[in-house]
Amino acid sequence: MPDYPEIPRHIAVIMDGNGRWAKQRGLPRREGHRAGAESVREVTEACVELGVDYLTLYAFSSENWNRPSDEVEALMSLLDRFLSEKQKELREQNIRLIAIGQIERLPEKTRKLLQTIIVETADHSAMTLVLALSYGAREEIVAATRSIASKVAEGSLKAEAIDCATFANHLQTRDIPDPDLLIRSSGEMRVSNFLLWQISYAEIVIVKKFWPEFRKGDLLEAVEEYQHRHRRFGAL
Ligand code: FPP
Repeated sequence: MPDYPEIPRHIAVIMDGNGRWAKQRGLPRREGHRAGAESVREVTEACVELGVDYLTLYAFSSENWNRPSDEVEALMSLLDRFLSEKQKELREQNIRLIAIGQIERLPEKTRKLLQTIIVETADHSAMTLVLALSYGAREEIVAATRSIASKVAEGSLKAEAIDCATFANHLQTRDIPDPDLLIRSSGEMRVSNFLLWQISYAEIVIVKKFWPEFRKGDLLEAVEEYQHRHRRFGAL
């Protein structure tokens, strides 16, 4: 493996293009998602090898509930399968699993499995895999605002004391550092309601390939591109 000068501490990924990959091959969309789950496995392993601390995957957005019910069911059953298969590996590889999003909207079976693995892996330290499930950044921001507003209303927080840190501490990602690198597959230049607050200073790398074609080499290339960027955080 090449010796990289600076590995991003947190990589976030918008896994896009499963449907188009399937359509190109005359396959149903769920086959695209199935193939996409393979890329998830490969990218997760590659991030552990690289020494990335946090990998966040946009696996299901709050808008994805509006897709046809058979596609939603296929995505949930893929997620169940991924979680059951990964359970042993997460244990062996010392990976912690956490989830962000409106987890309460997930089917009970998925939620229970997810919860079991989250508890089981809570003190793992090799890498944290963050699954964004039923996730929407605007919804997350609204929930944080609501929680801050109720503290102000009850008197436990002063409006003048609210700053960026206060706000960040009310997001679901409060214990996670902001992403350094955001990767989106399939060539689309959008952030699609993903981590809107947290990606303020992330370097964005758009990869043309559809997600099911995304391999370890594509991740390494994205990391290399990140390493050639000059991150200024608004300064000179
Ligand atoms: C976007 O492709 C992808 C998704 C909506 C879901 C991502 C899910 C997976 C990669 C598989 C399951 C996840 C895990 C964690 C095992 P799209 O359907 O929007 O593609 P399109 O834009 O080409 O239609």
